[in-house]
Amino acid sequence: MRRILGALLFVLLTGIIIISSCERHTFLVETVDPVDSVYFGAVIQPLLEKKCSACHGGSKDPDLRADKSYESLVTGGYVTLPAEESRLYRKVVSSGHSAYTLPEEKLKILYWIAQGAKNNK
Ligand code: HEC
Repeated sequence: MRRILGALLFVLLTGIIIISSCERHTFLVETVDPVDSVYFGAVIQPLLEKKCSACHGGSKDPDLRADKSYESLVTGGYVTLPAEESRLYRKVVSSGHSAYTLPEEKLKILYWIAQGAKNNK
C-alpha cells in the first residue's frame, strides 16, 4: 500500500514539474505591450524592409524600402485612425494579400499606427 502511494506521489510530482515547465515556455512567446511606444526607426522600418520591400520596392505602392517607407505611407494615406481601419493594417491582416507577417508583427504595426504613426526612432 505504501509503495502504491509512493508511486502515485511520484507520478503526481513529475506531472506538476512537467506542467509547470511547459508554462514557463509560454512566457517566452513575444508579446507586444500596447502602452510601450513602438518606434518607427527601430521596429517598423526594419520589419517593412524585411517582409515587404521585395515586392514593394518602388514600382508597387506603397514604396516600403527603408529610406522611402515613412513618406510613402503617410502621403499615400495608409496610416490613418482608427488604426484597425487603416489601409496599411487592413492589408497586413488581409488573407488575400501575399505578404507573411507574424501575429506580433501585425500587432506592432497596429500599435504604431494607433500611437499616431510617428516618425520616431
Ligand atoms: C509577394 C509580394 C508582396 C509582398 C511580400 C507584400 N506585398 Fe503588399 N501588395 C502586393 C500586391 C501584388 C499588391 C496589390 C494587390 C493587392 O492589393 O493585394 C499589394 C498591395 C498592398 C497594399 C495596398 C496598396 C493600395 O494602394 O491599396 C498595402 C498597404 C500593402 N500591400 C502593404 C504591404 C506590407 C505592409 C507588406 C509587408 C508586411 C507587404 N505589402 C508585402 C504584393 C506584396
